[in-house]
Amino acid sequence: MIDAIADYLARNNANTGGAYQTSRNTDRMIAEARSAMADFMNCDADEIVFGANMTSLTYAMSRAIGRDLGPGDEIVLTLLDHDANFSPWKALEEKGVTIRAVKFNEENCTLDMDDLASKIGKRTRLVAVGYASNAVGTINNVSEVVRLARQAGALSYIDAVHYAPHGAIDVRGLDCDFLVCSTYKFFGPHMGVLYGKREHLKGLRPYKVRPNTDNIPNCWEWGTLNHECIAGIKACVDYWEELGSRVETGPAPSEARQGASLQERHSKPALTTRRAAILAAHEAIHAHERRMMEKMIAGLLTIPGLKLYGIGEPRRFEHRCATTVVRIEGHTPLELATKLGERGIFTWDGNYYALNLTEQLDVERMGGFLRIGLVHYNTMEEVERLLAALREIVG
Ligand SMILES: Cc1ncc(COP(=O)(O)O)c(C=O)c1O
Repeated sequence: MIDAIADYLARNNANTGGAYQTSRNTDRMIAEARSAMADFMNCDADEIVFGANMTSLTYAMSRAIGRDLGPGDEIVLTLLDHDANFSPWKALEEKGVTIRAVKFNEENCTLDMDDLASKIGKRTRLVAVGYASNAVGTINNVSEVVRLARQAGALSYIDAVHYAPHGAIDVRGLDCDFLVCSTYKFFGPHMGVLYGKREHLKGLRPYKVRPNTDNIPNCWEWGTLNHECIAGIKACVDYWEELGSRVETGPAPSEARQGASLQERHSKPALTTRRAAILAAHEAIHAHERRMMEKMIAGLLTIPGLKLYGIGEPRRFEHRCATTVVRIEGHTPLELATKLGERGIFTWDGNYYALNLTEQLDVERMGGFLRIGLVHYNTMEEVERLLAALREIVG
């Protein structure tokens, strides 16, 4: 991915649509990146929109969708979501739209599905929900949310930013109307990607400059895009494909190999399609992250004074990813993150923009949480190091 970005800048740095070689190369490269992302999401290439990041794309969409909304229309949001899937929709209150915010169950930070179902009604125009919480790690039942939205005739808008590194995305299977993610969360460059059903991308009216045609998806991509990072996106999907074609699917890995990160494991012959390889990568990542998560959560729960927020019971681990938040009595999250950072372990403190969540749990005024996140390049040995470091810090 790094090489692809440098290579694009060194050899092809140009704008699109020109009658010369580097411009043609740029057009081709963007088309390839679009079709790679379409395989990553399971849709068609013209349903993929590139943008600066998920937040900007969501503001663009909320403005376009909001053009046709007014008093009497309702939008359903959740208090479990990152603020980037909350504030852009809440901004439509200025047009008279009513916002209905769904609660979550405080004991395990799962979405209150009864509350959600009761808030969706005949006035609902859109339901925005996160696929996975970037704070407590809960994976929401998005297919059920999409179903409820559709039943009410409302659009569904899924924030898959946090889910994308942990689970396979299948927009066709979900049948959602929109889904957004950020490639930097799944080992690509700092950019956002939006999937929109073709009928919506065509039917909605984006705010845009006149020379930008009405063709999708370009009518949603304003100004000059970050071409070098789009070259990086193609290489990022290549990485997923390569990972999938190399991971083992045979017998369970030996004890010795369980500690190794996925990148260190090799062997399987290439799979037939890019999508199949991406799915194979996700399957292996899921198993690897699950083992690490089990070890990490079991270890965390033995630390004196530690409180874990979110799903803690192993039998419910299918409903969470390997992102955990904790508080430890007598230590602020900032102090813990700083001390871990000094030991070479990088964690987050605060609210990571999941502001409604920290406010509802009343930890916002106390520095939020310490967040410890695992992805596929982590190892069992690193989990052990983290637990040992935390025990040492807590004393
Ligand atoms: C769940 C979730 N949604 C949205 C965002 C915002 O994404 P971006 O930085 O691409 O705007 C983040 C960023 O951390 C996130 O974790």
